[in-house]
Amino acid sequence: MNTMEKYGEYVNTSMLSGIVPVVFERAEGALVYDENDQRYIDCFAGIAVTNAGHSNPEVIEAAKAQLDKYIHCCSYVYYNKPAADLAEKLAQITPGKLKKTFFVNSGAEAIEGAMRMAKTYTGKREFIALQASFHGRTYATLSITGNFARKKRAGPYMAGVSFAPSPYCYRCAFNLKPETCGMRCAEYLEDIIKFDTSNDVAAFIAEPVLGEGGIIVPPEPYFKRVKEVLDNHDILLFVDEVQSGFARTGKMFAIDHYGVEPDIMTMAKGIANGLPLGAFIARDEIANTFQPGEHLSTFGGNPVSCAASLATINFLEREGIASQVREKGELLMGKLEELKRKYPVIGDIRGKGLMIGIELVKDKAKTPAADEAVAVRKACLAKGLLIGLGGVWSNVLRIQPPLVITDDQLDEVVAIMEKSLGEL
Ligand SMILES: Cc1ncc(COP(=O)(O)O)c(C=O)c1O
Repeated sequence: MNTMEKYGEYVNTSMLSGIVPVVFERAEGALVYDENDQRYIDCFAGIAVTNAGHSNPEVIEAAKAQLDKYIHCCSYVYYNKPAADLAEKLAQITPGKLKKTFFVNSGAEAIEGAMRMAKTYTGKREFIALQASFHGRTYATLSITGNFARKKRAGPYMAGVSFAPSPYCYRCAFNLKPETCGMRCAEYLEDIIKFDTSNDVAAFIAEPVLGEGGIIVPPEPYFKRVKEVLDNHDILLFVDEVQSGFARTGKMFAIDHYGVEPDIMTMAKGIANGLPLGAFIARDEIANTFQPGEHLSTFGGNPVSCAASLATINFLEREGIASQVREKGELLMGKLEELKRKYPVIGDIRGKGLMIGIELVKDKAKTPAADEAVAVRKACLAKGLLIGLGGVWSNVLRIQPPLVITDDQLDEVVAIMEKSLGEL
């Protein structure tokens, strides 16, 4: 049996019909090669993970050096230097007074832990999340996930969760225009707190740029107004940077674009450039709420992953990747806007840095064009380009490449996208 056949027989992926028929053999920078040495430009980075580039030599060297010393110790029973060094670094690069990190293995585990921390710190029990959000596939994280496409057939979900309209200007829940809306979706939080909760809300959880929901970029004043509402009710601002972190949007964290200080932040995906690691960070007084032994993760803070993470962050900082991402993102968005003028199937182009969504629609009424999105992705694949799919109606093409992608490769991406759109 070959690899794909073995997957069919033995690997439970829950998405065989959607799995992209590429067997990775090797990868470097923004390029991936399959078993037949077919070259692909990677514009999905393993779902926004390999930010510092596939097979980044500095990350590999740091991980190998740690592998040669020891692999595991359990960072909650014994001390390990890479975890300590990484936590110190995260305190320096995260906004405001965020300082103390709890290490886990994945995004969902980080969010579960941070939800528990928010409850124990505030003594409150409820949460508010966004309607198009995605926070993971465990029970609690699916419960706070608003994206209905991701939560079918697993309910009933956790009590004490309310959903606020997403700041999704292209499909505004209030049918308003961004120029004149007065941030109605942020204002509406007051009503949610009043009418949907028992006024016992520990935290409001949001992705600063919504990823799986279709790369939804909240307008610039959104989080400032949200924070004011939350402060009036002593509710924590909990930002989920699992997908938007580590220079993806042109700043180290997407919330840095909005000039507000979160109380809690979760991270994973790009944190260690592909080695499994998740983390949540909070101000001292919030983090110190855990009593000894109350929360733990056997593999959390794995020394090899932490060493790789530190090397990833050092690489991103030294190479000035965030500012390069801002430039590349602007250039790419400009070129995609040109495609939008030519192809009416493109309803909206939006993004920050190299986290870009292309929403496809069937008509002026914005009927989601999910089949067309699948067809474009397939056509891109045939031409050597890997892109992602997302959105609550699965009609958004996602461009989230390794951040080291070159300008020439981005030109190639646009050319392939154009050809593929032309084939519809
Ligand atoms: C914003 C966000 N939060 C949480 C998660 C869950 O992360 P993981 O798959 O590592 O559990 C994801 C995964 O796509 C995500 O995009």
